[in-house]
Amino acid sequence: MANLEINFCGVDFKNPVVAASAEPTANYKNMERVIETGAGGLVVKTMTDSEAMMKLSHQTRWRYLDEKHQVCHGKIPRLFTFYGRTGLEERPPNEWAKDVTKIRKLGDKEGCIIIGSIGGTTVESWVNLARIMEDTGVRMMELNFGCPHPSQMEGTKTGMVTGQDKLLGYEIVKSVREAVSIPIIIKLTPQVVDVVEMAKAVHEAGADAVTLINRFVGFLVNPETGKPIILGAAGVGGPWVKPLTLRWIYEVYNKLSIPISGTNGPYDAKDVVEFMMAGATTVQMCSVVMAKGYRWLSKTIKGLDDFLDSHGYSFAKDIIGIAAKSALTYAQMAELPKERAKINEDLCTLCKKCINSCFYNALSIEDDKIVVGDCWGCGICSCVCPEGAIRMEGGPVNE
Ligand SMILES: Cc1cc2nc3c(=O)[nH]c(=O)nc-3n(C[C@H](O)[C@H](O)[C@H](O)COP(=O)(O)O)c2cc1C
Repeated sequence: MANLEINFCGVDFKNPVVAASAEPTANYKNMERVIETGAGGLVVKTMTDSEAMMKLSHQTRWRYLDEKHQVCHGKIPRLFTFYGRTGLEERPPNEWAKDVTKIRKLGDKEGCIIIGSIGGTTVESWVNLARIMEDTGVRMMELNFGCPHPSQMEGTKTGMVTGQDKLLGYEIVKSVREAVSIPIIIKLTPQVVDVVEMAKAVHEAGADAVTLINRFVGFLVNPETGKPIILGAAGVGGPWVKPLTLRWIYEVYNKLSIPISGTNGPYDAKDVVEFMMAGATTVQMCSVVMAKGYRWLSKTIKGLDDFLDSHGYSFAKDIIGIAAKSALTYAQMAELPKERAKINEDLCTLCKKCINSCFYNALSIEDDKIVVGDCWGCGICSCVCPEGAIRMEGGPVNE
């Protein structure tokens, strides 16, 4: 068994798998079920003073969509889209704080780190919520600068509306930092030009860590009715979003020395490994848990352990950032030798799919054989060949 313990912002977690702030952490009973799975931590549903965001929780609508963006009924594919709307915690802060305190006590007993989450509407309300949250005894808290829905609700100044305003974000973080003493983690929105810039601003304002990244805003159409799916715009994400998330995790990891919690796109243990190798210390899971049930968290923890064992890693912490550190810049890549397609004539059936997909016109047929001319090494032909008859050789990629 590998050692799964990690340290995030000075707090020891028994493993890096965390239930993200959402409906599975929106009341005591649900959070109790998360704790039973053995998760390293959970982030409570965001406490807010926004009446509009409390009300939105009562108009909640969610759909799993398949690869054609049709609503799933029963079978949910691996690369599903999770599409929908919900608000923040519906109960007033002081009410919600009672449940959070209770679950924090259970978390302390069971070794599950309870992480607070707040979403204010003014600098003063962020500070007020932070104090209420700190009084519950949570070990750290997220500031939700990423919720996608306020952007669609005129006058609702929280979530990503905050996360898109660097000056306001800086001011909020600075004020909260002065008001509370536990670590504060800023959950950012991907809907900015440069997430690194925003992460830098909140770090300079006193944030201890960032959570990368919340969901996007989407809009999907039912062509049969000519109407939007579930009436209008909605939050959108799912496992297909993983590369977009990992891109920001690896950039922030390489450019700033600030701990990262990863969210948006993990499906299973292998994804958790990828998030960590890109630079995340903890990995939060939400929409896959909502599809598969709480036990998915236990399965993921077990899968992480198995992966580490089978790959010779004794400690989970050892994989954090290893892929980010070995990533080359585009300039460095330009210095490397080019790859070249190599055809296995025994397997080739002369179907010409490789020729159709060679946009450098490097492939031709001569004497009933595919001949490789001036190959630029792009690798498309090796992907489209149905017989596996093409391999790329001579360069550093080899995959
Ligand atoms: C139903 C639902 C409710 C959510 N509520 C919150 C919330 O209250 N606060 C928050 O910070 N993020 C919220 N999120 C975002 C999740 O915490 C998570 O970051 C996001 O779903 C991406 O992770 P995933 O790919 O595992 O689903 C919510 C997401 C969903 C799907």
